[in-house]
Amino acid sequence: MTNLNGYIVLITGGSSGMGFEMAKQLLTQGATVVIAARTGAKLEQAKKTLENFGDAYAVAMDVTSEESVANAATWVIENFDHLDMVVNNAGIGDNAPGMKELPKEHHFYEIPVSTMKAVIDTNFIGYFIVARKFVPIMVKQGHGSLVYVSTSTNTMTRPGQLPYGPSKAGAEAMTTIIANELKDMGIMVNIICPGGFTDTAMAGEDVKEFFQKNNMPILPPTIMNKAISFLASPASAGITGKKFVGKDMDVWMKENGIEMDF
Ligand SMILES: NC(=O)c1ccc[n+]([C@@H]2O[C@H](COP(=O)([O-])OP(=O)(O)OC[C@H]3O[C@@H](n4cnc5c(N)ncnc54)[C@H](OP(=O)(O)O)[C@@H]3O)[C@@H](O)[C@H]2O)c1
Repeated sequence: MTNLNGYIVLITGGSSGMGFEMAKQLLTQGATVVIAARTGAKLEQAKKTLENFGDAYAVAMDVTSEESVANAATWVIENFDHLDMVVNNAGIGDNAPGMKELPKEHHFYEIPVSTMKAVIDTNFIGYFIVARKFVPIMVKQGHGSLVYVSTSTNTMTRPGQLPYGPSKAGAEAMTTIIANELKDMGIMVNIICPGGFTDTAMAGEDVKEFFQKNNMPILPPTIMNKAISFLASPASAGITGKKFVGKDMDVWMKENGIEMDF
């Protein structure tokens, strides 16, 4: 297992689900991890739990608010002398405002504009705001890694996946642009996704029930741990503009001759 002592990571949406599990994984490897989410008891409770695994911090951040992200960036600059990785993981989907009120089988024209805006605001513009504020820290120090947490490619265009799918498709396109712009500046920019329905707070109970009833695979929230550990390790040096699928990491590493002990 790579020793990550001195490696500093910020994970948006680190208060639950996959963000929380990635934080735990990197802490276990010795990294310093700052989790960020909207202010509240949930964030504090998550930090308290994570403190059992290592050097954990929490900072309030609403990714949809430029001011909130700027305040969090200032806090990071004041408290740490560098920042190695930012994981843009905060997101909403079936839990977005207005989604629950929609019939299970609905047409796109039934989706309230406010729901569309809320999802784009968090998953697309929120990602831009975070990258815009935190990447300059990496540019200044001459190294860093930006990770975007996305979804499976077929989710982006499957009927019923508006607005979530397109919000992630747009963010992946943005990631490609950012990766190309930063490729000669020592900053790696990559995408990770679980590779299927994952058991987290975001996933609606009804969807989970449907998966269970039909014996369809449900991935655990730890599914991204190998991908994030790999991207934080020296083995990933120089890799940029790529998409990694959590559930396929073992196969990918084998095919690429990478041996890692998790
Ligand atoms: N679950 C799946 O099947 C699945 C599949 C593919 C991809 N993903 C992606 O995985 C990522 C993590 O989601 P998850 O499944 O682990 O769900 P989750 O447990 O609901 O985690 C989402 C996190 O984002 C935070 N968040 C939401 N809105 C925010 C905002 N405006 N500002 C800051 N933080 C915000 C939440 O905390 P607060 O609400 O306290 O702010 C929470 O910590 C998301 O980007 C999601 O799209 C999920």
